[in-house]
Amino acid sequence: MADRDRPIIALYPGSFDPITLGHLDIIERASKVFDRTLVAVLQNPKKEPLFTVEERIHLIEQSTAHLPQVEAITFSGLTVECAHQRGATVLIRGLRVMSDFEFELQMAHTNKTLSEEIETVFLATRNEYSFLSSSLVKEIARFGGPVDRLVPEPVIAEIQQRCFPNLPPA
Ligand code: PNS
Repeated sequence: MADRDRPIIALYPGSFDPITLGHLDIIERASKVFDRTLVAVLQNPKKEPLFTVEERIHLIEQSTAHLPQVEAITFSGLTVECAHQRGATVLIRGLRVMSDFEFELQMAHTNKTLSEEIETVFLATRNEYSFLSSSLVKEIARFGGPVDRLVPEPVIAEIQQRCFPNLPPA
């Protein structure tokens, strides 16, 4: 039985380069289920991100300012280690389409093997965001396309500025 004297902390790990409306929808829904939700940005030296970890955290903070029980953090190494350190007992992942499932299930099994106490909870991505990814957003922005229906408001100007630094701000 869950120990309801203790708050249930969920950790939502990912790259968030940058946060999309799909991510934000998952965060908003997770924050209705769990007492606290930690959005954990992985420091991954193998990837060349568009935004630094600090910038990504700032964009998440701005985008989730209406959710007081949500906090953006950074981590390196294993997700389950980060969860242990932060007192989180649940890992959140969004599932967009069937092809996500294979990798997500493998990751959930791996994390279960690494830590018996931590449960992975999948939230089904809303249908309207099932095609959406940070990579797609970056590709559209790099070609000068509109991203205003794909990312939270604070990200729009930042990504346009990052892709086209010489344009005057809108
Ligand atoms: O947004 P992403 O890139 O799909 O997130 C992937 C992430 C960060 C959840 C995953 O790569 C991860 O958990 N990395 C940390 C290393 C780790 O814990 N590996 C074991 C589980 S596969």
